Amino acid sequence: MNEQIERRRTFAIISHPDAGKTTLTEKLLLFGGQIQVAGAVKSNKIRKTATSDWMEIEKQRGISVTTSVMEFDYSPSGEPEGGCYKINILDTPGHQDFAEDTFRTLTAVDSAIIVVDAAKGVETQTRKLMNVCRMRKTPVIIFVNKMDREGKDPFDLLDELEQELQINVRPFSWPINQGQRFKGVYNIYEQNLNLFQPDKQKVTDKVEIDINTDELEKWVGDDDASRLREDLEMIEGVYPAVSDVNGPDGLYLSGDTAPVFFGSALNNFGVQELLDCFVQIAPCPRPVMAEEREVRPDEPKFTGFIFKITANIDPNHRSCIAFCKVCSGRFVRNAPYLHIRNGKTLRFSSPTQFMAQRKETIDEAWAGDIVGLPDNGIFKIGDTLTEGENLHFRGLPSFSPEMFKYIENADPMKTKQLEKGISQLMDEGVAQLFVNQFNGRKIIGTVGQLQFEVIQYRLENEYNAKCRWEPVSLHKACWISCQPGYEQELENFKKRKYQYMAKDRDGRDVFLADSGYVLSMAQQDFEHLNFHFTSEF
Ligand code: G4P
Repeated sequence: MNEQIERRRTFAIISHPDAGKTTLTEKLLLFGGQIQVAGAVKSNKIRKTATSDWMEIEKQRGISVTTSVMEFDYSPSGEPEGGCYKINILDTPGHQDFAEDTFRTLTAVDSAIIVVDAAKGVETQTRKLMNVCRMRKTPVIIFVNKMDREGKDPFDLLDELEQELQINVRPFSWPINQGQRFKGVYNIYEQNLNLFQPDKQKVTDKVEIDINTDELEKWVGDDDASRLREDLEMIEGVYPAVSDVNGPDGLYLSGDTAPVFFGSALNNFGVQELLDCFVQIAPCPRPVMAEEREVRPDEPKFTGFIFKITANIDPNHRSCIAFCKVCSGRFVRNAPYLHIRNGKTLRFSSPTQFMAQRKETIDEAWAGDIVGLPDNGIFKIGDTLTEGENLHFRGLPSFSPEMFKYIENADPMKTKQLEKGISQLMDEGVAQLFVNQFNGRKIIGTVGQLQFEVIQYRLENEYNAKCRWEPVSLHKACWISCQPGYEQELENFKKRKYQYMAKDRDGRDVFLADSGYVLSMAQQDFEHLNFHFTSEF
């Protein structure tokens, strides 16, 4: 079992839209031998123009269903074929309106690769995703992409990464020039220089040279050669030693420092350096905290939790796939597993795993793997499965939404259908529901406008119910708790703000602040109350 666990690398590639996540994913599949030429994996990005065309979204989402997890065996270059490592890449939606989905996916990974555009540097979404990684102490590697274009100075970029992402960095590869003059990357980790022939389609041969010989001058010219040597000297002087960053007690695994790689995903520059180093230093499955205790991956009994539910694109029958992360033991097809929330024993006759573009029924899976389970409404995000032990995995926080609308019934004959539809869509984690305690009206909170369209479309097509949106002017919803001994202050707050108090789906108190000013005044006036921006505190 330990052998199985140690060879697994379960991670997500995350980025601000357009930084190159899809391109990098595709190149990794190319190296993994999963696809032969680039362009085989369609972007799961929902094009900005398609915001009102749900069928288009649906079609594209269909593609993303099968590419939700991509698995392949990989041996680093120079090592015998045969797949020493088992790679599980968890795909995340490209559109920012589905950021919540990405946050949740991050709960199922052991590490993450963050892609940053060399010209744009750190962008909003990158910052938000990094916050989630920091909260969970997820080790991250940063890939600075698009070095074939004119971008920021690499040293400036490193400073920006440290400041904006609040994490220490350590270059593990270094670019020779950029833009038109980009010649390749020096692999600091392995101490060799790889000059590539750019090829967007295939993996091409590289030229390996020793930078301490005048061969370097011959390949890249005098100026770039001396600049590279100077840069490397500076890096060694300023940043922590590579040996302090990697290794079992290193700064990378503790979430303190992010190794940084430079390259161009589109041109296959620097991608293999990234992958080869990644498989060696990235963590294998780690222990997961349940409410009751810590669960170790090498425990003999199976445990797992559902972190994502994806609806089928076939509108004729509402069937979904629930994605279960195996936390410990061995998952076996047809074995009886306890669904903790409803106390039922379930057997799965057709669990699936996902290859680049196909899915296969599997007989077993190990800690770190993601198993697709057919779901006809039995699962809810965060559900735990075990061999009988009463366990509850935690760590699936809801984040304070950014957009709010009242949801109203537009067809009184279909009230039941609407209730059921809303309830199941919320179970899937499509958006968040709050019920205003003052007027009983239901408020849906989302990260982006697209989610409202998705809800409306799916209610009509899957539940035969109609809804209507009405505006509500809200700034933020935050969960409220009080410091011990200040229960009366909490009660006073709820009385004073009764028009703005709501309950979430688990019956917790939520304060709906209609402006940033109101929120900060409330925080000032009620200093012993805590205002939380994630549901887990
Ligand atoms: P995303 O998933 O993070 O949203 O980004 P994606 O990979 O789709 O890449 C966004 C755009 O950036 C794409 O161009 C892609 O070709 C380009 N790109 C990715 N890596 C590099 C790189 O290393 N160098 C350069 N110059 N461009 C890169 P697009 O025009 O939006 O799409 P497409 O028509 O090329 O598919």
